[in-house]
Amino acid sequence: MVVKVLRLNNEGEGIASIDGKLVFIKGALPNEEVDIDIIEDKGNYYIGKLNNIITSSSDRVIPKCPYYDKCGGCFLMHLSYNKQLEFKQDKVKGVFKKICDIDINPVIYSFNELNYRNKVTLKVNGNSIGYYEEKSHSIVDIDTCLLLDNSINEVITKLRNFIQNKNHNISEIMIRSISNEIMISFDNMNSIYKEELLNIFPSCSIYIKDECISGKKSLIETIENYKFYVSPNSFFQVNSLTFRELYKYVISNLNGNGNALDLYSGTGTISILMSKHFNKVYGIEVSNSSIRDANENIKLNNISNVYFIEGKVEDKIDELKELDINTIIMDPPRSGSDNKSLKSIMEIDPRSIIYISCNPVTLARDINMLKDKYEIKSINLFDMFPQTSHVETVCILERKN
Ligand SMILES: C[S@@+](CC[C@H](N)C(=O)[O-])C[C@H]1O[C@@H](n2cnc3c(N)ncnc32)[C@H](O)[C@@H]1O
Repeated sequence: MVVKVLRLNNEGEGIASIDGKLVFIKGALPNEEVDIDIIEDKGNYYIGKLNNIITSSSDRVIPKCPYYDKCGGCFLMHLSYNKQLEFKQDKVKGVFKKICDIDINPVIYSFNELNYRNKVTLKVNGNSIGYYEEKSHSIVDIDTCLLLDNSINEVITKLRNFIQNKNHNISEIMIRSISNEIMISFDNMNSIYKEELLNIFPSCSIYIKDECISGKKSLIETIENYKFYVSPNSFFQVNSLTFRELYKYVISNLNGNGNALDLYSGTGTISILMSKHFNKVYGIEVSNSSIRDANENIKLNNISNVYFIEGKVEDKIDELKELDINTIIMDPPRSGSDNKSLKSIMEIDPRSIIYISCNPVTLARDINMLKDKYEIKSINLFDMFPQTSHVETVCILERKN
């Protein structure tokens, strides 16, 4: 059947309407007339499969990736980059419209539209290595991924050769490229292939089942004049160029004095970057590996006024309630923060809150809880994830009156 696409949903799928019921169509763009099949009735909406584009949008571009149709890795490669940025700005505007009337600044673009990722986790099965197909557990075999740093793609080519016709027992491989050094971490591997592996990757950091068997235990990233250890299981921002802009923006918006909290602090990057603006900075982070790196990072940078607390924000934040906290930075995972932590944040009563989020929906939900007491000063967007529908948002809040 032929439908006209009205707009994009938050995931970047085209939305059309059939007798008043919405249909979501992956790969379709606004104003296009497309021929589709309905492949699923979800009750209050349909899922459509794009068969043919009858009238094409002028914003459509040919995806550079040969696996784009099958792979679930990115979603917007058929949309011109400028329009991707507009889509992300509109998406955040739409989400925030429900809670307040505020201007959303245009997205700060990524310096690399492609080859920007410094980390990937790939699935392995027999001779295949790649990503899962969208909504499935079958592997799309890839030679290269255009989102990844070229040095990671070179590693994938070698790994593909290495796994052929072996009883290797590998099902997942994480590869990181930081400051021109490579870390490869295998979830498992038949030890009879260890020598061969080390000959292929003589200068890399190699982990098998969380044990470092060769090379450095951690890679080191430099941000401003600070150095940061990054271990295989620690969180680290994936877009090596754009995250610097985001951090710079956050630091330039600090209204610093007194003490600060860095909630969901990862390897302590933000805590350390803001340490010279405050008397004391306290980070809370649940991941043991990230906390270990964060504590090493304090030593590496000779910092004496930053303290890290291991645990969940919701369990630990009340221990810091009595400190005189001027600023809270928070950067939770996609699921956002939680009522208990948000309530404690309001009781702590900081003058300003900087909320960094990779999910505008949970960001708006959380800001909605804070907004009686805090005024939204600005919302800025950073394109950390080109070709995908994701966007990083920084929301600056100031206590009212
Ligand atoms: C988006 S990362 C932010 C890291 C850091 N701000 C940075 O820029 O590198 C989110 C972090 O929150 C941590 N995390 C997730 N849930 C948590 C919770 N309930 N309490 C504390 N940390 C949590 C994750 O381990 C991860 O390191």
